[in-house]
Amino acid sequence: MSLLALQDLGIGWPDGPRVLDGLTLSVVHGERVGLVGPNGAGKSTLFQTLAATLPARAGQIHFDGAPVQAGRFSPNLAMVFQNADDQLFCPTLAEDVAYGARNLGLPAPEVAARTDQALDACELTGLEDRPVHKLSGGEKRRACIAGALVMRPALMLLDEPSAALDLRQRRNLIDLLRGLPQAMIVASHDMEFLLDLCPRVLLIDDGRLCADGPARDILGDAALMARHGQEVPASLAAR
Ligand SMILES: Nc1ncnc2c1ncn2[C@@H]1O[C@H](COP(=O)(O)OP(=O)(O)OP(=O)(O)O)[C@@H](O)[C@H]1O
Ligand SMILES: [Mg+2]
Repeated sequence: MSLLALQDLGIGWPDGPRVLDGLTLSVVHGERVGLVGPNGAGKSTLFQTLAATLPARAGQIHFDGAPVQAGRFSPNLAMVFQNADDQLFCPTLAEDVAYGARNLGLPAPEVAARTDQALDACELTGLEDRPVHKLSGGEKRRACIAGALVMRPALMLLDEPSAALDLRQRRNLIDLLRGLPQAMIVASHDMEFLLDLCPRVLLIDDGRLCADGPARDILGDAALMARHGQEVPASLAAR
């Protein structure tokens, strides 16, 4: 059974035009799905809608066996925001990372264990007491990812997770995410990153879902990619 199912979903901002229409797709447990599309195509808007921070304009979303309603947040879904400063808000890194676990009502030792593990997975150990505004850009990005991991959700929505990461941390992130059992949808302009991570890709543009299929078929289709302002990643173009 699918973990997430969208049926003829329409999304947009209040008082604005419809951003995407007629989205029908599903994601199963453990699936890793890349989300590609030009600036302004609606990737972040889709994430906000799936995370129930923005109401759907049409159609339906089912997640984890229940309809998604705006304002009713599922503890089984965690989002990593495109802009780290929109996500981090606690005085220290450790408090910020712990927040999601604490919010689940877990006992304190479990919160502490999960927090340590998430900090370690994101190579942030040693920075626990650092005020979040005194972290580097890449450290902030990894702090956001740790804050999602700590919840151990069934679905993670990762909005540009490789942005701001140096090459070593980008590689670490690929290895980390590949090793997780959770389903994830990953929005990115970093096509090589998606190719490494996601067997399946969605391409959105012009207010609709333009392609949904194997990452190599979609990202390797030069005509399709060019039509939507994208480029075939070098590792596929070279073949
Ligand atoms: N908070 C907001 N209020 C109103 N409109 C918004 C808001 N955020 C984004 N938009 C508009 O919604 C549309 C989709 O934007 P969105 O941020 O979802 O694109 P995106 O695919 O994530 O782009 P990018 O690759 O630049 O991150 C754009 O026309 C954008 O201007
Ligand atoms: Mg975006």
